[in-house]
Amino acid sequence: MENISRNNIPRHLAIIMDGNGRWAERRGLSRNEGHRAGMKKVEEILEACIDLGVKVLTLYAFSSQNWKRPRREVNFLIKEFERYIDEEMDKLNKKSVQFRVIGRIRVLSPKLQEKIAKAMKRTKNNQKLVLNLAINYGGQEEIVDTAKELIRKVKDKVFSLGDIDINLFRKYLYTKGLPYPDLLIRTGGEYRISNFLLWQIAYTEFWFTPTFWPDFNKDEIIKAIDSYKRRERRFGGLKSRIKGLED
Ligand code: IPE
Ligand code: IPE
Ligand code: MG
Repeated sequence: MENISRNNIPRHLAIIMDGNGRWAERRGLSRNEGHRAGMKKVEEILEACIDLGVKVLTLYAFSSQNWKRPRREVNFLIKEFERYIDEEMDKLNKKSVQFRVIGRIRVLSPKLQEKIAKAMKRTKNNQKLVLNLAINYGGQEEIVDTAKELIRKVKDKVFSLGDIDINLFRKYLYTKGLPYPDLLIRTGGEYRISNFLLWQIAYTEFWFTPTFWPDFNKDEIIKAIDSYKRRERRFGGLKSRIKGLED
């Protein structure tokens, strides 16, 4: 499995880390223990991505809709993110990983917001890989936030309504400055997007696996990438005529 060629590795890999709860329930554990196991997985998958040459890894950790869950579970998840930042930031920095968070950060606790801001600032010049953690993230919410920001700019006469096009819109998304995902993996057996990166996945390739997130591993990433490599991405054009249309 390790014998994967380094050509045509997805530059941006996005993962919907689903299945923590069911993984735990099957073992007679609490859902929160599943989330703990899920957070522990992140380091291994990040290592695998660095090793394979992925440049941007976006992980869906908490959706705008996940607030609907019981308070106990929500509080636990938020605490896990804090713990992750506290415990992992030195390691990420040593690996030259740039840490970013996408989502509506402003509604999180001031303490968590501060930790996020500090971690992003500290790692902002790191070049090996960008780790984008989606917390309180919703794709529809992102598009609305982007539209509002653009309206503000038009009001402030930074540009005019006629200037707004796909390229300008893109520059105001949470993911500004990053390429779109080449490959999206969803673990946990569901075949849906659950409000993840709606704008950015217009031409992304998909890979769905029944494996629950805490059981996911490098071999599975390699399987997904192998499949990705065999696909022909046409971006609406014709066979291999098009170059560079992806971003
Ligand atoms: C993914 O696992 C983590 C979050 C959504 C926060 P789930 O908690 O959704 O696990 P399942 O889907 O219930 O198994
Ligand atoms: C998507 O999983 C969100 C994350 C993995 C963070 P969900 O478990 O929330 O999605 P649904 O409810 O099954 O669509
Ligand atoms: Mg789920």
